Amino acid sequence: MPTHQSLGGASDEELLQRMIATHLERFDAPFWDFFDAHVRRRLPPRPVIVDLGCGPGLLLRDLGERHPDAVLHGYAFKPASVTLTVHDVAGRPLPLAAATVSLASMSSVLHVFDEPLPTLAEIRRVLAPGGIFLLNDWIRQPLAAYLAWRRDVMKEAGPDALRRAFRLFPVHNKYTPDDWRWLLGEAGFEVLAHTELRASHRIFVATPAP
Ligand SMILES: C[S@@+](CC[C@H](N)C(=O)[O-])C[C@H]1O[C@@H](n2cnc3c(N)ncnc32)[C@H](O)[C@@H]1O
Repeated sequence: MPTHQSLGGASDEELLQRMIATHLERFDAPFWDFFDAHVRRRLPPRPVIVDLGCGPGLLLRDLGERHPDAVLHGYAFKPASVTLTVHDVAGRPLPLAAATVSLASMSSVLHVFDEPLPTLAEIRRVLAPGGIFLLNDWIRQPLAAYLAWRRDVMKEAGPDALRRAFRLFPVHNKYTPDDWRWLLGEAGFEVLAHTELRASHRIFVATPAP
């Protein structure tokens, strides 16, 4: 059974459009500064890069521009703007050989899964020695801060938006930064770096622990 969930009552198409509309502010200059400092220098010249739950595929596109010799794989539920594979990354093993991936990325996806550990185990299996797992996901905020963030940053207003915000609150505010760190440790990862570029998200750079 697919474990994909449509968030907050939004249709898949609405979610895709929202991902596209917010892409540039989510993956802005501070994000790429952090990426260059902590990820890029750890990648081989011809990296194999995988984005799990890649949505519109724009992050893969950006990564391909920075690494023109990279081999790119994107897994999503719907085909989009780049060559992607339709694949349920929560419910099925990744279609990749063990120890072959230089960089696996998951952005705003893992919090949705009922149980993240099997997916983390799959990521650990496919990562090459010294490979990087870049986890970028929602962190818990107080209700008032979360509602204010949706109102002021996402410019949402009106009763439908408020209903959606309350529906999404438990989805987006599921894990604290310590919970993410614990999950990564439990799945056999060592955290090399982390940052909070926005109050809503924490980014972790992790590698398989020896
Ligand atoms: C909030 S969007 C994030 C998209 C993209 N990573 C980004 O940051 O722009 C979550 C994405 O995860 C995908 N997704 C959710 N569950 C999935 C699963 N089990 N397997 C593959 N993709 C999944 C959804 O289809 C959606 O594209």
